[in-house]
Amino acid sequence: MAGRIVLFGATGYTGELTAEALVRRGEKPLLAGRSPQKLAAVAQRLGGGLETATADVADPPSIRNLLERGDVLVTTVGPFTRWGEAAARAAIDAGAHYLDSTGEAPFLRRVFQEFGPEAEKAGIGMLSAFGNDWVPGNLAGALALKEAGARARRIDIGYFATGGGAGGGMSAGTRASAVASISEPSFAWCGGRIVAERMGRKVRKFGIEGRELDALSVGGSEHFALPRLETNLLEVNVYLGWFGKATRSLQLATAGMSAVFAVPGVKQLFEAGASRVVKGSGGGPPAEARAGARSMFVAYAYDVADQLVSEVRLDGPDGYSLTGELLAWGAEQARDGKLRGSGALGPVDAFGLDRLQKGCASLGLRALSAADRIR
Ligand SMILES: NC(=O)c1ccc[n+]([C@@H]2O[C@H](COP(=O)([O-])OP(=O)(O)OC[C@H]3O[C@@H](n4cnc5c(N)ncnc54)[C@H](OP(=O)(O)O)[C@@H]3O)[C@@H](O)[C@H]2O)c1
Repeated sequence: MAGRIVLFGATGYTGELTAEALVRRGEKPLLAGRSPQKLAAVAQRLGGGLETATADVADPPSIRNLLERGDVLVTTVGPFTRWGEAAARAAIDAGAHYLDSTGEAPFLRRVFQEFGPEAEKAGIGMLSAFGNDWVPGNLAGALALKEAGARARRIDIGYFATGGGAGGGMSAGTRASAVASISEPSFAWCGGRIVAERMGRKVRKFGIEGRELDALSVGGSEHFALPRLETNLLEVNVYLGWFGKATRSLQLATAGMSAVFAVPGVKQLFEAGASRVVKGSGGGPPAEARAGARSMFVAYAYDVADQLVSEVRLDGPDGYSLTGELLAWGAEQARDGKLRGSGALGPVDAFGLDRLQKGCASLGLRALSAADRIR
């Protein structure tokens, strides 16, 4: 019998979007979270008939008890730097495939370097950051690498909000995650290996719809996953282009913060204070704001002489809708035995480029032809 899809965090903003996407696909996920009342309300909004179960990250066995071998756990309980470990370990222990909605570099690094080898031994796939962060950059990067082949030495990837701007801003959970992960070092793929690097160490410009936009460097799953596709790749850079004119000031701020957090005790004080002030579970952009927003994802591949050899641009829906759709699609594929490996997997390792590209296209994330690209 095929396993179930268990959605942990179903009462949150992204969790409910994911539940809606699963139900639209004809799935009947088990909705899990810490509040029985909120779970009952979500199940009702989704038309009734869905099972619910209570689990709390403060009580790790309660998450383990949700799962059986062959299930797929989708978790949207963040900030992952603070709360993510219990769900990841429960999936490994149960022998359940795992997907999460994180975008946090410190947690991603743990998935690839710490949980991944354990997941491989357990024979399960771990698909971390299987949302707007960082699936589109992996897809754009893999398509650019396919074209560049063994000539590729460096790849630069950019994420941008287009159409209706930022689509109504960030969810409370995204803000809480940004604050929870900012005191930890990020990383990059540089010189053919993962190196610690602060967020915002680099800024570069991308041509987007007739404007030159600044974007700030961040750690994504591209740094771990793209070098698996092209072993000549020496440098992977991922940039966020959401901050407009504030990008340069943010770069200065992240430099200042990394100096301050190096002082013993400051990081712990900051984390304790920030977790009291910045809280999740406060909703996110309403459907009307999301409907007017679009996203653009760019990948540039360069050769050993730093000459551009390929360029790919993807157009997609707003980031939150896309995250719910991607998690639902990925969970269904994993449940149906379509994973091509075990351990910590990038989106292309997990499904192969063709299946991933077709799946993304069905969710509205499509490559633009050269004629449709407005730089
Ligand atoms: N990768 C991407 O592109 C992307 C896109 C969207 C979101 N995200 C990330 O996904 C995460 C969720 O975002 P969101 O906007 O949905 O946040 P949210 O609305 O705050 O949802 C957080 C969820 O976690 C649950 N939770 C919190 N503490 C818990 C605990 N102790 N035990 C069990 N459940 C607990 C909350 O339950 P209650 O309802 O009971 O409070 C809620 O269901 C964040 O880390 C965010 O950064 C990433």
